[in-house]
Amino acid sequence: MAAEWRHAIEITEMPGNGVTECVVEGRIIALFKLEGEFRAIDGICPHQGGSLGKGSLHGCVVRCPWHGWEYDINSGQHQSIPTVCVNTFETRIVDNNIEVRLS
Ligand code: FES
Repeated sequence: MAAEWRHAIEITEMPGNGVTECVVEGRIIALFKLEGEFRAIDGICPHQGGSLGKGSLHGCVVRCPWHGWEYDINSGQHQSIPTVCVNTFETRIVDNNIEVRLS
């Protein structure tokens, strides 16, 4: 299936800490605002299903709220386990909306 752009949230819905969760086409997506740009990754931690969109952001690294696994929000790469990586998605702004490109 071709990747398609989908509405995620309005820009104004992004909280001040730059971390949030949304559901796009039935998928849970973690959205981040970092240095004025938006990033999107799979919102479910591969460890035990924690919500990465409810984690804490430390530079470009999100820490899962459940047990502290950390992922680079640019690459999806786990910070200490090379074989663990979450999907990343392109983002774009259309009018006042953040859209993600689902694959
Ligand atoms: S569920 Fe994310 S670290 Fe355990």
